[in-house]
Amino acid sequence: MGQCIELHEQVGSTNDLAKQAGRREEPEGLVIVAEEQVAGRGRLGRVWVAPAGCCILCSVLLRPRFSPHQAFYLTIATSLAIYRAVSAILNTADSGASHKVGIKWPNDVLVNGRKVAGILCETEFGGEGWDFAVLGFGINVNLEPGQLDDEFQATATSLSAELGCYVDRAALLCRVLVELEDLYLSLQRGQFVAIYGQWVAVLETIGKRVSVREGASTLEGRALRVDADGALVVRVDGGGERRILAGDVT
Ligand code: BTN
Repeated sequence: MGQCIELHEQVGSTNDLAKQAGRREEPEGLVIVAEEQVAGRGRLGRVWVAPAGCCILCSVLLRPRFSPHQAFYLTIATSLAIYRAVSAILNTADSGASHKVGIKWPNDVLVNGRKVAGILCETEFGGEGWDFAVLGFGINVNLEPGQLDDEFQATATSLSAELGCYVDRAALLCRVLVELEDLYLSLQRGQFVAIYGQWVAVLETIGKRVSVREGASTLEGRALRVDADGALVVRVDGGGERRILAGDVT
């Protein structure tokens, strides 16, 4: 992973470039990084905005051999890789403070309860299974709190804001890619249960009261567990359980 790296000054979306490379039959492991995206995309059809030159905006092209039914393990692996890399940076930095790193279902990486990284996994399938997968991730690295959009001031943060010092983006990206390769190769060997266990262990959502937005409707309740297919199971206020496959949880 990363034996071939493209670094762009400005792109529309690194995920779009990686998908084009996938359709051109380029080999897996290709990494596409940009200093700025003018059409960055987030989950649930949202835009992903990041000021130029201070974040990590990256997409990795992969060609998994496991069942397409297990595609969600790719997002699990990516959030765990970022979780591990961010934890390593926060734990070795000489800041004197302790920082809580965790994952919010399904795959936001949080530091001290606020989002520092988001993941957009996109897949294309042909007649006989996978064509390819693209793992896109954005990490807020050297951002002043004032550079975050107003709507994210309360819910998002950056590594430099939490640490109080500049963070080396290249070193962090390198660490994420090393961790991601390790996890991906484990998935290729079929070690789903082990990786699922590591992900669930750092999920901050379980046991908490949650509000889940799905399109125009919102439900409130308590997050009970995550099913084997990655769905969040919520005990809804007023009775009953609901399985959430793709929602926005706060
Ligand atoms: C989210 O909504 O939390 C997911 C955000 C994913 C953003 C990254 S930045 C690099 C890659 N290219 C994109 O257009 N999106 C992903």
